[in-house]
Amino acid sequence: MVPLPIMGKHPINLSIPMKSLLTTLSILALMLPQVQGASSPGSNVTTSVFGKLPLGAPVTLYTLTNKRGASVSIMDYGATVVNLRMPDRRGKLDDVVLGFDTLASYISNKPYFGATVGRYANRIAKGRFTLDGKVYHLPINNGENSLHGGKVGFNKKMWTAHIVSQHPAAVAFSLASPNGDQGYPGTLKTTVTYILNDQNALIILYGASTDRPTVLNLTNHSYFNLAGAGNGQVLNHRVKINAFYYTPTDAHLIPTGEIRSLIGTPFDFRKFTPIGAAIQQTGGNPIGYDHNYVLAKAGSKRFALAAEVYEPTSGRFLKVFTDQPGVQFYTANFLNGIPGKGGKKYPQYGAFCLETQHFPDSPNHQNFPSTVLRPGEIFRSATVYKFGVR
Ligand code: BGC
Repeated sequence: MVPLPIMGKHPINLSIPMKSLLTTLSILALMLPQVQGASSPGSNVTTSVFGKLPLGAPVTLYTLTNKRGASVSIMDYGATVVNLRMPDRRGKLDDVVLGFDTLASYISNKPYFGATVGRYANRIAKGRFTLDGKVYHLPINNGENSLHGGKVGFNKKMWTAHIVSQHPAAVAFSLASPNGDQGYPGTLKTTVTYILNDQNALIILYGASTDRPTVLNLTNHSYFNLAGAGNGQVLNHRVKINAFYYTPTDAHLIPTGEIRSLIGTPFDFRKFTPIGAAIQQTGGNPIGYDHNYVLAKAGSKRFALAAEVYEPTSGRFLKVFTDQPGVQFYTANFLNGIPGKGGKKYPQYGAFCLETQHFPDSPNHQNFPSTVLRPGEIFRSATVYKFGVR
């Protein structure tokens, strides 16, 4: 069983999502045999100052370390994963996520490296949707569309952090987004909890509640390179995605509404396939994978294995589990040599993202699973990135 974190004294009020965290964790304990294991005194959470915002507020980096020495560092600005150090098959730890050395770089962070994305991950066509007969307008920040929650999305907010537990290492980040924030209705209270267990699983729990009907789609935007961040392209990584369908898009990456079979197409990852095998046939501008996969279990809210990735040189292996209906498989097509951690340049295809999510632009597609959250409901979701070696 995953031991439940002991809730200590809280520097912040326990909002409804925060309370729901305990429920979510106990559900998880029953649901996640893949990531279970006893926690040990070897794990811990430490803090350091990562930088200062322009007005002087300090940004804190929370480093969760497990008994194997693997670690994840997350800052309260954007509840952003900054570093993730996992062993290769020889036991050598490497940072496997792209990012920056300085807070200043994260403030512009055009690729959304490591960020918590909200209120609505991915695109909403023309920044417009209708809910209960009312039209809402969102900031346009990507061509003619609204991307990743608008100009000042959750990735650009200061979250309130709270160390939930030392064993396992767990930190919760909370954010109250006011009614009308970036055009979205409802005061939305969100909590994102990161847990690093001793089996090298990074568990991410989301909780949210609203005081008016709204729409919601939360994800984490980590860019992974299992050979080590900044270590070239990921075209030789082998990927498997548990999906038979995807949601094709128009030239502006907005879903057409079709749920299309991927069998026998360049989007078919039902068997382990190198990312580079058919990438040139994906089309798009820039060319590459930037598609929402309809997870085989999409009709249910079941927590299940969504995708697996293997990198042959390091032997690192990643399994992604989620209860979300979709996953955005994105191969960092828009990167073009941006300098990152340690001055390393990140090339196009220098990482892959597996952003667990509801489908892009769902508020404008009746046939997609609903992203509506109403007062009195609590949104709960879990995604697990479990690392191993072969
Ligand atoms: C989107 C890409 C976008 C990237 C960075 C991904 O979730 O699908 O189109 O370029 O995020 O914003």
